[in-house]
Amino acid sequence: MPEKHDTSADREQPSRRNFLKSGTAISAGVASGLATTRAIRGAEPAEGSSQLVRIGLVGAGGRGSGAVNDTMSINENIKLSAIADIEEQKLGALRKSAVKRYEDKIDVADHKMYHGIDAYRRILDDPEIDLVLFATPPGFRPQYVAEAVDAGKHVFAEKPTCVDPAGYKICLSAHEQAEKNGTAIVTGTQYRRQTNYVEAIQRLHDGVIGDIIAANMRYCSNGIWFRNRKEGMSDTEYQIYNWMHFIWLSGDQIAEQAVHNIDTLNWVMGGPPESAYGSGGRFTRPEGSEMWDNVVVDYVYPGNRLCSFMCRQIPGTQSDNSNTIFCSEGQCTIYGGNRGANIVDRKGNEIWSMKGDIGEAYKQEHKDLVDSIRAEKPIVELKATAESSMTAVLGRMAAYTGQLVSWDFATNESKLNLFPKDFDIQGTRPEPEFAVPGRTKLV
Ligand SMILES: NC(=O)c1ccc[n+]([C@@H]2O[C@H](COP(=O)([O-])OP(=O)(O)OC[C@H]3O[C@@H](n4cnc5c(N)ncnc54)[C@H](O)[C@@H]3O)[C@@H](O)[C@H]2O)c1
Repeated sequence: MPEKHDTSADREQPSRRNFLKSGTAISAGVASGLATTRAIRGAEPAEGSSQLVRIGLVGAGGRGSGAVNDTMSINENIKLSAIADIEEQKLGALRKSAVKRYEDKIDVADHKMYHGIDAYRRILDDPEIDLVLFATPPGFRPQYVAEAVDAGKHVFAEKPTCVDPAGYKICLSAHEQAEKNGTAIVTGTQYRRQTNYVEAIQRLHDGVIGDIIAANMRYCSNGIWFRNRKEGMSDTEYQIYNWMHFIWLSGDQIAEQAVHNIDTLNWVMGGPPESAYGSGGRFTRPEGSEMWDNVVVDYVYPGNRLCSFMCRQIPGTQSDNSNTIFCSEGQCTIYGGNRGANIVDRKGNEIWSMKGDIGEAYKQEHKDLVDSIRAEKPIVELKATAESSMTAVLGRMAAYTGQLVSWDFATNESKLNLFPKDFDIQGTRPEPEFAVPGRTKLV
């Protein structure tokens, strides 16, 4: 383990810690996206609002590096001060590329680069770190976020925030604890801050095209990476390295990727569904992958509103990332990425449209987070994102088992806990197993 040095003298004054930890949390607003975002954007900065915020990153892969760039590009007077990753070589690579772009905002000494399975704890133990960004595989997220909240840190947590009902419950407790602490939790559901999403959904909630009746959401793409085992890796090390393909780590594509659309669905519908009925299967996945190629789910939301959802990752197929919401007087389509949104009346006449800019949304979540800390009104939005992650899990449970599954069962009675009870980084793991409806049990 790297040696720890006390460099606190030049870092912080007692008043700074009080300032950074004394907020009154804002939470429910994220369920309505716009309200929260506007409220925070409009918040008056508290006294001392320019004080330095020190950041630690856990998970220095693709999105970890993206999150660092996003926050560096939009926030002033912040410093990346520590990096943790299970793989040592990720640390130097991330620091090097971050320094090239944001030299004055990167202050990661060699002894603040931690590697190994417990590396995240070194960041949580570091009193200099105010804010921790989590971008590990999702299976670790509930526990890591809960420990960060217990340690009094502000948190940015990538999506999904849980991959099973056990993780969902941990998220709910962490949300409550953060509210009590006055510490922030912002999540990587960037569409909640993407202007065309916010404006479209505000119009739907304002009733511009009548009552919301049903929806159809798709996240269909061409496939995903697969990482071959490297010599010398234990089973556990290999599964973490190739995490997408193991359900305890990724939650399968419905949770890992399509949670964006499911989050949009919950946002539009005002909360999670009552039940799910689903199907799907696998045809092209490499041997050793537990993932399905596609999942289709019919969700029923309160008011008997039926919403159909589909996700697919099959090479050579046509991609589509879109969300269509059917209302009594028209319909609204919001496309993923930069493809914009529009609203038409029942005759198909366009009555509103707007372009999209996902790059701005990725930055906005980090601006909202840091602004909310400085305004002493820390955003706590883990509950809504945990609900969306759990809605994806509910759909997966229905599809994997071939049963109709209620939200009530999944969140109150299910005993599903995918995290290995005997977790050992050097240990063996059972042979990969994929779900077969009718055989896979609902637990
Ligand atoms: N919001 C978005 O649009 C978006 C986009 C891409 C990825 N993501 C999410 O970000 C997360 C990371 O995805 P990625 O694409 O960066 O994956 P990645 O494989 O590129 O990076 C994951 C990193 O975490 C490290 N890691 C694994 N287990 C760890 C542990 N226990 N402790 C510390 N480090 C650990 C890995 O070594 C790797 O460097 C996932 O949850 C993914 O769903 C979100």
